Amino acid sequence: MQPELVAVAAVARNGVIGADNGLPWRVSSDLKHFKALTMGKPLILGRRTFDSLQRPLPGREIIVVTRDPRFSPAGARIARGPSEALEVARRLAKALAVDEIMIGGGAEIFRALMDETRRIELTEIALEPEGDAFFPSLDMAQWRETKRETPRAAKGTRRTSPLSRSSANRFDTAASVSRKHVLQPPRGKAI
Ligand SMILES: NC(=O)c1ccc[n+]([C@@H]2O[C@H](COP(=O)([O-])OP(=O)(O)OC[C@H]3O[C@@H](n4cnc5c(N)ncnc54)[C@H](OP(=O)(O)O)[C@@H]3O)[C@@H](O)[C@H]2O)c1
Repeated sequence: MQPELVAVAAVARNGVIGADNGLPWRVSSDLKHFKALTMGKPLILGRRTFDSLQRPLPGREIIVVTRDPRFSPAGARIARGPSEALEVARRLAKALAVDEIMIGGGAEIFRALMDETRRIELTEIALEPEGDAFFPSLDMAQWRETKRETPRAAKGTRRTSPLSRSSANRFDTAASVSRKHVLQPPRGKAI
């Protein structure tokens, strides 16, 4: 059986997922959620997202999509395009005996692999920040919500008002996460 493609994204109310090649918020509970979902699995990232990582992602088999033949990062495999990334990820999934391939973004990679994506693990961020990277708009006739959970706000955290696309625009709380849910296309969609 082919492993299932699963996109993991945190999306603001206005569709923003990134600004200045970073996240326009800081929600540690969501980083933990991302870690739990991706651990032990192949993880496909665009080169810009890979560059933006603040720290390595141990325990994941990372495949970076790039057109740059000289790009050879430590601790990650390279793919020259989304199709090659899928081929590599499928081989790795088989070797790891896992049934999911995770897509970690950013916008170009979510878009490029959306037709093959079977599930989206979506964290809704209750903000409308400025940004320059957006999650692809979904045709909701093609998707159904299969699960929804509302994480509790972290104790003692506080929310500040967004001011600009700078550090003042970052939230350090789990309170800005409103909901997590899983979207799946209707049964029968071919990969
Ligand atoms: N909120 C979230 O869930 C989330 C998740 C991930 C990322 N982000 C944010 O999203 C932003 C980055 O997204 P992005 O769209 O700018 O960049 P990206 O998707 O991370 O990476 C784009 C790069 O991927 C490579 N690429 C894309 N399509 C390709 C193709 N068909 N063939 C070969 N290589 C290809 C190119 O690399 P080369 O230029 O090297 O050729 C391109 O510059 C950042 O702000 C990041 O923080 C947010």
